[in-house]
Amino acid sequence: MFKSKLVRRLLALALVLVLLAVGIWMIAFRTVAQSDFGGDMAAEFNHGSIGNEGAQGIPYWIWRVLPTLFNDYLPGPSGYSSLGLFWAPGAELPVGFSKKVVGTERVSINCAFCHQGSYRLSPEGLPRLVVAGPGNRVAVQGYPRFLAQAGADPRFNADTLMDAITLIYDMPWWQRLTYRYLFIPATKRALRQQAMAFAWSDANPDWLRGRIDPFNPVKYGILRMGNDGTIGNSDMMPLWRQDLAEGENAAGQARSLHWDGLSTSLHEVVVTGAVGDGMSWRNYRRASVRERLGRIEDYVRRLEPPPSPFSSERPADDPFHVDAGVLARGGALYGQHCADCHSPQGSRFRTVIPIEEVGTDRHRVDMWTTEAAERYNGYGGKGEDWGFSGFRDVDGYVAVPHIGLWLRGPYLHNGSVPTLRDMLRPPAKRPRLFYRGYDLINAADGGFVSSGPEAERVGDAYDTTLPGNDNTGHRYGTELPDTDKEALLAYLKTL
Ligand code: HEC
Ligand code: HEC
Repeated sequence: MFKSKLVRRLLALALVLVLLAVGIWMIAFRTVAQSDFGGDMAAEFNHGSIGNEGAQGIPYWIWRVLPTLFNDYLPGPSGYSSLGLFWAPGAELPVGFSKKVVGTERVSINCAFCHQGSYRLSPEGLPRLVVAGPGNRVAVQGYPRFLAQAGADPRFNADTLMDAITLIYDMPWWQRLTYRYLFIPATKRALRQQAMAFAWSDANPDWLRGRIDPFNPVKYGILRMGNDGTIGNSDMMPLWRQDLAEGENAAGQARSLHWDGLSTSLHEVVVTGAVGDGMSWRNYRRASVRERLGRIEDYVRRLEPPPSPFSSERPADDPFHVDAGVLARGGALYGQHCADCHSPQGSRFRTVIPIEEVGTDRHRVDMWTTEAAERYNGYGGKGEDWGFSGFRDVDGYVAVPHIGLWLRGPYLHNGSVPTLRDMLRPPAKRPRLFYRGYDLINAADGGFVSSGPEAERVGDAYDTTLPGNDNTGHRYGTELPDTDKEALLAYLKTL
């Protein structure tokens, strides 16, 4: 009798423990696959999960009310859009965010957070999305700064957040408990940790819209290297025709990726793109994550930019008209002075041009070191198809493709030259201060409009005298006679 009572109690206790374990698993770890994107690769690129929700994801309802409660910490009144993110009318999330259930629905950034873009052909026009574009408007640094400030604010507490959430969503009682006692305190803690992890960046010049210091966070976080005080601010790169970055060029040299050619493997650059955003090698073992990244790799291999609006077929009084004869002359000049480095048939296309030769700001090159390359090659777990071998340290910058050149402004690896016309001026004559982040195409000069009231209102001031922001070097074409420059400029705008 006594014995069976004990057994019953033990059984009851075991049952409670099992239920508790299942409950905790449901609330904290259970993952549910995202619904598929029906073969729409642009949608999948813009909103598909890259397996980082566990590490970085913010519970959806917290993420949703943060801009309402803490709008002062954002650059403008339009919520997350004010960070320069493209948000299609009626869409649930801005481009660059995915939503996935890991315990609860969580929101996380993906590749499109940085690799997106927009443009307008007239000030009144609506911005048009450029899929996987060069991130021309995005204030990447603004997002962690917003989260850090919100997280540190005393109003970030369960009472205030739950009031804001229940105003817009009739949350079931059990979920209220999980938010109040689990997700809100845990998110506050995680935001505090994230703020500490990014504190080093406050000592460096601001990233500004369209730029980020992409590899110092990797060095200090993932590769566990000490803060070496370097500045690696670089312009975001578009992901068009990445197939042209593979293999060897006509002269038998390996083609390279990233501004300084630190890798020669598109596959590894794609996987480490996700690693940098918080995907772990454990998650990479999931078929869903591996397959998603594989599809992204194939997608960016063949993706084309939107065609240039500059054309000789437009009427002569159209601001985007270019004269056919001038264009032909420009094409010939390009063949003579630029194609060897910039056209896919050129002998130096996608290879690293030594820093002494190209002469641009060297901070980005000095940021990446042999030790960092070795550590990244040795990084990670033992998943199949995992482990890197292509990282290296090269002292120079890649002769990048000119595909979609009309959308790639501001130009050079640090985005220090606002327009194509300025690229053809000697460095001393290039603007010392301009604004970046406005998406109106500059019909006269190529690139985006970078001065005037609207550019100043929506953009960030770029000061070329700050470390890492220098606009020297790349003197190709700067000595040509003015008429040749006009012809070359007309041609460049059409690329
Ligand atoms: C936080 C911003 C950010 C995110 C998120 C991001 N990237 Fe990038 N990516 C960059 C920047 C900036 C560069 C250029 C950096 C440099 O070399 O200095 C770059 C470069 C690249 C390149 C090299 C392009 C070339 O022409 O050489 C590829 C490929 C790439 N990223 C793919 C991805 C993929 C795939 C993802 C998602 C799994 C991703 N990136 C996520 C910012 C980002
Ligand atoms: C010897 C090789 C070489 C030649 C010749 C050359 N370039 Fe470049 N170009 C580069 C390199 C390297 C970069 C990247 C430098 C950097 O970002 O610091 C670059 C970058 C650029 C960019 C910026 C691209 C972007 O996405 O921001 C433009 C525009 C450009 N070149 C135009 C030209 C034009 C026009 C000519 C011919 C008059 C030319 N280049 C000739 C090597 C070359």
